[in-house]
Order: sequence, then structure tokens, then C-alpha cells
Amino acid sequence: MDGLVQGKVAVITGAGSGVGRAAVLLFCEHGARVIAADIDGANAEETAAMARAAGGEARAVACNVADPASVDATVAAAVEAFGRLDVIYNNAGITISPVPGKGLRSLVECDPEEMKRVEDVNINGVIYGCQAAIRQFAMQGSGGAIVSTASVAGLMGYGGVLYGATKGAVVQLTRALAIEVADQGIRVNAVCPAGMLTHYAGMNPDSEQRDAILQGMGRAHPLGKAIDPRDTAAAAMFLCSDLAANITGVNLPVDGGLVAGRKVGR
Ligand SMILES: NC(=O)c1ccc[n+]([C@@H]2O[C@H](COP(=O)([O-])OP(=O)(O)OC[C@H]3O[C@@H](n4cnc5c(N)ncnc54)[C@H](O)[C@@H]3O)[C@@H](O)[C@H]2O)c1
Repeated sequence: MDGLVQGKVAVITGAGSGVGRAAVLLFCEHGARVIAADIDGANAEETAAMARAAGGEARAVACNVADPASVDATVAAAVEAFGRLDVIYNNAGITISPVPGKGLRSLVECDPEEMKRVEDVNINGVIYGCQAAIRQFAMQGSGGAIVSTASVAGLMGYGGVLYGATKGAVVQLTRALAIEVADQGIRVNAVCPAGMLTHYAGMNPDSEQRDAILQGMGRAHPLGKAIDPRDTAAAAMFLCSDLAANITGVNLPVDGGLVAGRKVGR
């Protein structure tokens, strides 16, 4: 049986770790040819090598999503390697550093320089990815699929304020852009995960307390389980696949029911 994204050419950003690495492995397992792009070229190469070792077709590119020329070059690398582009998955994202020993930094404690860096990666990085992909789709005379990693923090008040604002921007970009490019056959969607144990925000997925951390994360969700990076990658892959051919402008929570509400009464 063909895979869910059989033969599609995909660029996946933030591919050196966490959700991006899980996505490269899953897309390849389902038949895609993938450019694994990350600002950390060595980690991107490690991801691509893991995908190839599992029988997939993947190449690594060092890419800074906050630099439009670097994003354009990454799309060009996909076309050079695989002849076309069908999918861009704008997944790279960062957050404001925590206050040492205290945790989450409040809005008034945020440094303007760091705020600009986070905005540049989380908002402009997604915008540059969309621009580069749309230009390539137009040159091919084809449609295409764009998916981005937003967050439940873009749908509700959840954790860091500045970070949530950047993800809210991705949520709204997804809706507005979906309308703008619908008549070109381009679909634009996003996934909105709840907390996952990755290298994000200085967390350590290899921590000795891993099981306890995951249990704690799971308790916050109606379904009672922590979100795995593969859960998010799977939702993104579905949105890129032909099974989602009539789905656009959607911000899909991957959150164990968190944004749906909470149980009250008995
Ligand atoms: N982990 C969570 O709790 C969580 C929750 C909701 C949403 N998210 C989002 O999921 C996405 C993936 O995060 P993750 O949890 O896998 O974190 P991660 O830190 O494990 O992976 C992020 C990757 O992005 C790369 N990256 C950072 N800046 C970049 C840049 N300028 N250009 C290219 N690559 C860059 C990093 O090198 C890293 O490999 C992010 O958009 C994040 O905001 C994470």
C-alpha cells in the first residue's frame, strides 16, 4: 500500500529535534521525499541520516527560518534534489527563556531584544516559509500544502504571553492565507499542540524524571496522556495528505482535549 504522502516532496523546518525530527521520520515512512531543515545543520543531518537508515529519502539543509534568503535557498534545495515542492511544514519555533530557578518569564520581565528574536522566528519564519512555497507552487503551476506548528497557546491563554501572541499570529495567518490562496489550489493549515517533552524551552527529553514529567503533563489533559511529538507530526502529515484535500484554514489542536474545556459537576 502506498504511504499517506507517497511521492510528495516536503520541506520540514526545525527538523533537528522534537516535532520536526518526528515529522521527517514519519513523512519518509509514508513515502515522502524530505528536506530536513534546521538552523543546527549537524542535527538536521542526523535526522536525515536516521530517515535514510529506515529506508526513507531525506537530505539535510542548514536553514535559518528568520532569514528569507535562507528559506528561499532551502526551497531551491528541495527542487534541485527532488524536482519540485508539494509541502512546506513550518515547524521551527522558539520561546522566551525562563527565569533561572523561577520558571516562566512574565511579559514585563521580557527583554525587547529576545522578544524580537522570538517574533522573528515564530512569526516571520512562518511567513517566509509560506512566501517561498507559494512562489514555488506558482512556478510549477501546481497547488500545494502548507502546514505550520502553532500551539494551544495561540488558541487560549496558556503559559508565556509573548510566545502565545506569536502563536496567535500563526493561527490567524493560517486562516487569512488559506482564503487568499484557495483559488490557486493551495491549502493552509496549522497544528496546535499542547506541551510536549522536547528540547523546547530548555527541557530535557532524556531526563531521569522523564516518566514523572510526562505523567504530570498528561494530568492537564482530559484524555490523561502527555502529547508525544509524533502525535503532532501525525496531525501535520494528515493535513498535508490527499485525505485532507478539502480541508483548509484549520488550526487543529493536538492537545488531549485541553482547549475543548474541562469536566464540571459529577
Ligand atoms: N514542546 C512544546 O511543549 C510545544 C508546545 C506547543 C508548540 N510547540 C512548537 O512546536 C514546534 C517544535 O518545537 P519542539 O517542541 O520540537 O522544540 P525543539 O526545541 O525540540 O525543536 C525546535 C527545532 O527548531 C530549530 N530552530 C530554532 N530556531 C530556528 C531557526 N531560526 N531556523 C531553523 N530552525 C530553528 C532548533 O534548532 C530545533 O531543532 C515549535 O514551533 C514550538 O513552538 C512546542
